[in-house]
Amino acid sequence: MKASAIANANIALVKYWGKRDKELMLPQTGSISMTTEGLQAHTTVEFDSKYQDDILIVGGKEFKKGDEEYDDYVGQFLKVVREKFPDKVGDLKVKIVSNNNFPTAAGLASSAAGFAALAAAVNEALKLGLDDKELSMLARRGSGSATRSIHAGFVEWHRGEKEDGSDCYAEQLFPPEHWPELRMVVAVTSKKDKKIKSRAGMKQSVATSPYYKVWRDEVVPKHIEIIKKALAEKDFKVLGETAEANALMMHAVAIATTPPVIYWNAGTMDIIHAVMDWRDEGLECFFTIDGGPQVKVLCLEKDSDEIARRLREFENIEDVIITKPGSGVRITDEHLF
Ligand code: PMV
Repeated sequence: MKASAIANANIALVKYWGKRDKELMLPQTGSISMTTEGLQAHTTVEFDSKYQDDILIVGGKEFKKGDEEYDDYVGQFLKVVREKFPDKVGDLKVKIVSNNNFPTAAGLASSAAGFAALAAAVNEALKLGLDDKELSMLARRGSGSATRSIHAGFVEWHRGEKEDGSDCYAEQLFPPEHWPELRMVVAVTSKKDKKIKSRAGMKQSVATSPYYKVWRDEVVPKHIEIIKKALAEKDFKVLGETAEANALMMHAVAIATTPPVIYWNAGTMDIIHAVMDWRDEGLECFFTIDGGPQVKVLCLEKDSDEIARRLREFENIEDVIITKPGSGVRITDEHLF
C-alpha cells in the first residue's frame, strides 16, 4: 500500500482569498490559475501495520502531532481520509515523505503542490478509485488552492453553491498546449517561511477587511469573466492587466485587515516598480503576488529570458525560476523511501 505522486504548483490569475466554510474548505469565491511546470512536489505514502503512528517528513524535516504544521494541515487531511474511507484505511498508520524543488511556505503555492501530490498518492495507495474531479475535492480538504493543482494548464475552481461542498471542485479550462508561449518568471525575494499563513490571513480578511465585500461580490466575479475570455482569445494584454489588478486588489483587502496582513518586502516593491517601468519601455510584462513576498512576472516566451536576466540583476533577489503552463498531478514509480 505504497504509492508516489508528483504535482506542480499553480499560480492564481484570479485569487482565492477567503473561506465560507472552514471545515469543508469551501471558498467565498471562484478562482482561476495556471499550473506551472517546474515548481513541483514529490510525495510518497505508505499505509502499513508496521507503523505505530503517522510519520510526516517534509524536505527532510519531521513533523509530529502537536506541531501546528502537522495538526492543522496533514493531520487534518488524514482525519478526512479516515472519516471518508474507513473501509480502505482501517486502523493503519501512514508514513508520508514529501520534497519540493522550491522553497516551502514562502508564498510559492507549496501547499497546493504538496496536497495535490498527497491526495493522488493516497488515492493510488488505498485504491480509492477517485477520478480527477473527486481528487480535486479531496485535495481541497488539505489546502484550498491544491484543488487546482490536480489539473494541467489553465484551471477554474468553482465556488459551488451547496453547503456540503459537492459542487465545489476544479476543472480544466484549457490544456497547456492551448497557450504554450505563456510564462511566469518567479522572482524569489526571500526563502524564509512567511509569518502569516494564507489560512490565517484570509480568515482575518473575511472577518475584518472593509473591502472584503466588494472583493467577493464585485471584483472576483468580474475578473473571472474577463480572464476566461482573455485565455480563450489568448489576449495577453487583457490577461496581464486583469491578473495584475486582481493581485493588487487581493493585497489591498489583506493590507486593510485588522491586524494588517502585509506580505511584501523591499524586494517585492522594487520589482513591482521595475515591471511597471519595463512596461513603459515597451517590454510586455505584468506581475502577480500571492501570500508571500515573491513576485511572479507574467510574460510571453519571447521576453522571458530578458526578464529573467533583468530580475537576476537585483541585489535582494535570491532566485529566479522560469515556469510555463504545466502538467497535472501524476503517479510515479519513483518512491522517496
Ligand atoms: O490554498 P492556500 O491556503 O495556500 O491559499 C492560497 C491563497 C493565495 O495563494 C494567496 C491565492 C490563490 O488563489 O492561490
